[in-house]
Amino acid sequence: MRVAIFGTGYVGLVTGTCLAEVGHDVFCVDIDQAKVDGLNRGVIPIYEPGLEAMVKANHAAGRLRFTTDAAQAIGHGEIVFIAVGTPPDEDGSADLQYVLAVARTIGRHIQRPTVVVGKSTVPVGTADKVKAAIAGELEARGAAIAFDVVSNPEFLKEGDAVNDCMRPDRIVIGSDNPEAVEKLRRLYAPFNRNHERIVAMDVRSAELTKYAANAMLATKISFMNEIANIAERVGADIEHVRHGIGSDPRIGWHFIYPGAGYGGSCFPKDVQALARTAHQYRYEARLLNAVEAVNDAQKGHLFELIQRHYDLGEDEGVRGKTFAVWGLAFKPNTDDMREASSRRLLAQLWEAGARVRAYDPEAGEEARRIFGERDDLIFCDSATTAVQGADALAVVTEWKQFRSPDFGQLKSALKDAVVFDGRNLYEPSEVEAAGIAYYGIGRGR
Ligand code: UGA
Repeated sequence: MRVAIFGTGYVGLVTGTCLAEVGHDVFCVDIDQAKVDGLNRGVIPIYEPGLEAMVKANHAAGRLRFTTDAAQAIGHGEIVFIAVGTPPDEDGSADLQYVLAVARTIGRHIQRPTVVVGKSTVPVGTADKVKAAIAGELEARGAAIAFDVVSNPEFLKEGDAVNDCMRPDRIVIGSDNPEAVEKLRRLYAPFNRNHERIVAMDVRSAELTKYAANAMLATKISFMNEIANIAERVGADIEHVRHGIGSDPRIGWHFIYPGAGYGGSCFPKDVQALARTAHQYRYEARLLNAVEAVNDAQKGHLFELIQRHYDLGEDEGVRGKTFAVWGLAFKPNTDDMREASSRRLLAQLWEAGARVRAYDPEAGEEARRIFGERDDLIFCDSATTAVQGADALAVVTEWKQFRSPDFGQLKSALKDAVVFDGRNLYEPSEVEAAGIAYYGIGRGR
């Protein structure tokens, strides 16, 4: 089928590439000429395992094209996706200006009946606004062309996006028109083999489903972080507690890892946006507000542990110290640092007069862009280099390569022989056996 996709960010680029991979004919549109030129040369603007090879192969096969020409793309597509960003406004609600700008562009250029699909995470009611924006442009043109607006939220995870997209666990389609659902059914047929993954519903339910999924996952994390904070005080070990509850299938093993807080472009933004939507409908989402508040506090928790260790009155204990920081990305397998917990820790360390030797396998370039050149930050090219000459080590991102360091070497590298483990990667007894002081999250000390 012929598809146009607006926005070549994570969602748009991955969706477009996967649709091309299964044989559809895809045009990806972006307003950023440099990005489009790069993509046409095979330069992928994000780090996402498996994506580059797939983009190149489909581009070479002529099934995946990149353009800034909206009219051409809309002329090409019988299905047009909106996958542009919805950054948070100052009050936490999603900023719809880019989504609605695309809607107006679609209204200006469609020539034949079209299914418009909302893939961006948008507040409940946005499909109606998109519909109105397209209708307004059609009216201004004096054109009577039938179109549908469908909500088809994306559930892909950064770092595993290609896999999530190629093997979705569900495909949510929100539409009031059975014909539009049928069209998307055909589009997604290659992803819907063996068992039924399509969950069809009305538009508003589909819009809310996306927020509910992310809010539930964020809630699990904040819940565990809260229990970890209690464990720390009562002298229990959250890792035992995690094992003790995860085996209950109603709770499950996923997303119950305590840590330095969740980050990324989705959870923080979506939890706030959903609370904001609720507020607009005169409902105070107390649980969602608490999930956000717990996470915000959790991002400062590693620094609290650092302060506790250095036992200070006035930050003097941390002042002048050098901290090796392993991991800057908000999670492994990405170079994305949006809302990353590392940003809070670094800010707190600098504020307290400490210096940082940072290493991240992928996010170094992004960190340089964010922090620029500063005297109290040295980027290192390996985890081992980062700890050389440092007083202490803080682990912020759970990259696999940080999981089993040589503790003997760590002991000789770190002047103060102390590790602050923001993702509970290590067994306290093993670290301590090497003569290193250990602090984890919720580990009863
Ligand atoms: C999240 C959802 O997991 C996807 O299903 C969703 O499609 C996506 O948002 C989206 O809305 O686009 P993502 O932001 O890529 O995906 O990241 P996650 O893998 O969910 O991780 C989020 C954060 O939670 C990371 O900072 C991670 O370190 C943290 N986390 C995760 C924990 O602290 N504990 C856990 O148990 C799991």
